[in-house]
Amino acid sequence: MNQNRPRGSVRYDNSGRIAIVSGGCSGIGLAICEAFVRTNAAGVVCLDIAEDRVGDLPEGVEFIRCDTSQDEQCREAIAWSVDRFGAVDVLVNNAAIQPQDSYVPLHQLPVDVWNRLIAINFSGYTFLAKFALQQMQQQHSGVVVNIASGQGHRTARQVGAYGPIKAGNIMQARQWGIEYARDGIRVVSVSPGAIDTPMVRASLSQQGGEAVIANRHPIGRLGRPEEVANAVLWLSSEDAAFITGTDLEVDGGLGAFAAFANPYPMPNR
Ligand SMILES: NC(=O)c1ccc[n+]([C@@H]2O[C@H](COP(=O)([O-])OP(=O)(O)OC[C@H]3O[C@@H](n4cnc5c(N)ncnc54)[C@H](O)[C@@H]3O)[C@@H](O)[C@H]2O)c1
Repeated sequence: MNQNRPRGSVRYDNSGRIAIVSGGCSGIGLAICEAFVRTNAAGVVCLDIAEDRVGDLPEGVEFIRCDTSQDEQCREAIAWSVDRFGAVDVLVNNAAIQPQDSYVPLHQLPVDVWNRLIAINFSGYTFLAKFALQQMQQQHSGVVVNIASGQGHRTARQVGAYGPIKAGNIMQARQWGIEYARDGIRVVSVSPGAIDTPMVRASLSQQGGEAVIANRHPIGRLGRPEEVANAVLWLSSEDAAFITGTDLEVDGGLGAFAAFANPYPMPNR
């Protein structure tokens, strides 16, 4: 087969559309902001607390400091975006944490770590969706994409808090998807495998190193943030108009690979 043969790629057009991305200053969220800018969105708003990383945002992204665990800050951020751009076409709930001190068996989990996880990773998604949905209902259009995780689908050691909360992000999309389907609004979730971002880099050593993690994915490498962003572009486009209340795993085959299919490594061909 000719390796140089073009494989083709779809280009989306977000002209005239307004996208809000939480946690857009880093990793997957940053790639999603870039993807909306690249596809000519009329407005891209990044909600984050990382004021020191605003300089990393591409030109054309508006930054609002918003701690998504605070409902009033979420209300203000959505209201500001509507004032500035007149609409909310896409909300990407992406801001989440997986701190080092959450990698413990549940009986050792400090309560303050649980409180932070549930506040940012679960309540934050709820608050932003709540205020964005109010605007989307008036428009009779809009898409909410929750960035969940493969750890919300299946188990791993030491994610006894993060995993169930990520499962909640998948369930939020199912619930909200059916509840707002007749309002012209779609809600979906995306569950990444291990993606090369600061969050994953910070925990690689705990999980046996990059080669081990990469090898667990049948495709044999970590995912790239842009590969999650591409899924978000598709799911939020009209090409996905009949898709709501469901989840897409962007995981290099990790979720399809049964533990009993060991041994690793997968053969390289
Ligand atoms: N990287 C992966 O392999 C992976 C795998 C599965 C799921 N995910 C999910 O993808 C999403 C993004 O992860 P990432 O790896 O890009 O993480 P990251 O740590 O690189 O970026 C997260 C961003 O969220 C922001 N943030 C944190 N707390 C916030 C708050 N209270 N309010 C507003 N912003 C806040 C951070 O400042 C940062 O900019 C998360 O939902 C994560 O659970 C990541």
